[in-house]
Amino acid sequence: QGPSVLLNTGAHMPLVGLGTYRLQGPEDTYQVVDAALTAGYRAFDTAAVYRNEAEIGQALRSLLPKHGLSRADVFITSKLSPKDQGTKARDGCLRSLEQLGLDYIDLFLIHWPGTQGRDVRDKRNPENRSQSWATLEDFHKEGKFKAIGVSNYTVKHMQELLKSCRVVPAVLQVEFHPRLAQKELRALCEESGVCFQAYSSLGTGVLLTDPVVQAVAQRCGRTPAQVLLRWALQQNVPVLPKSAQPMRVQQNSCLFDFELSESDMARLSALDCGEKFCWDPSLVV
Ligand code: A2P
Repeated sequence: QGPSVLLNTGAHMPLVGLGTYRLQGPEDTYQVVDAALTAGYRAFDTAAVYRNEAEIGQALRSLLPKHGLSRADVFITSKLSPKDQGTKARDGCLRSLEQLGLDYIDLFLIHWPGTQGRDVRDKRNPENRSQSWATLEDFHKEGKFKAIGVSNYTVKHMQELLKSCRVVPAVLQVEFHPRLAQKELRALCEESGVCFQAYSSLGTGVLLTDPVVQAVAQRCGRTPAQVLLRWALQQNVPVLPKSAQPMRVQQNSCLFDFELSESDMARLSALDCGEKFCWDPSLVV
């Protein structure tokens, strides 16, 4: 196991995991997961919405023995589809376990605070979220989900959950990069014992050409992707780089043999302007 963070469940979660959004097809999935295991990745992040849980489960089943690893050596995350929020949550949870072919999932998240196909202003959203969370708590109690958490929750959604939950979420996974520093959410997570985890650290690729990022990369002899991932790690934020290219998968895991100076960290942090490249959950009631 590489460097990890301690969750409020007592389990360790690797600081670097492979994001698998858009990873599709058994051959590509096998190749990328193989490259990731070779590079030292021990965490894999999927979701029902990505439609690749079965392929990832299959790839891991064939590849773990090849790498001399067992199920316990890897940390698997999946997420409840927005269309399964509320009354369908139990079916959604069972489907993820079945698709992955696992008897337990290390971390299971509510993917999105809203319900697919319904208006973001739908008054039933809070009730659906609360019902989904109660279902995740049941799976946690049964040992099927070792840890549970949420994704794309705003401060408002988090406060609502923290007020009513029986099990405090272990993880909040949100978009996080120098242009979206999420200060309020991070502070809330810190004071509540919730691990704040980043997705889209590269700003979906847009930040790779940012002049400040490129200047820092040049100064430390690293790639822009490595600089952006390191910026998060130096703030104790675990990352989930995603790439369908084995060379980049490897590059994105080489993050522990260099350090950004305080002034470069500050230059990058000064880019914060609240810009989102992914979906915006702030309108979901
Ligand atoms: P690809 O799959 O072709 O490598 P984010 O994680 O911020 O959403 O960004 C993901 C995007 O960044 C993907 O389009 C991915 O494309 C690209 N990407 C990932 N790693 C690298 C890298 N090391 N260098 C350049 N582009 C990368």
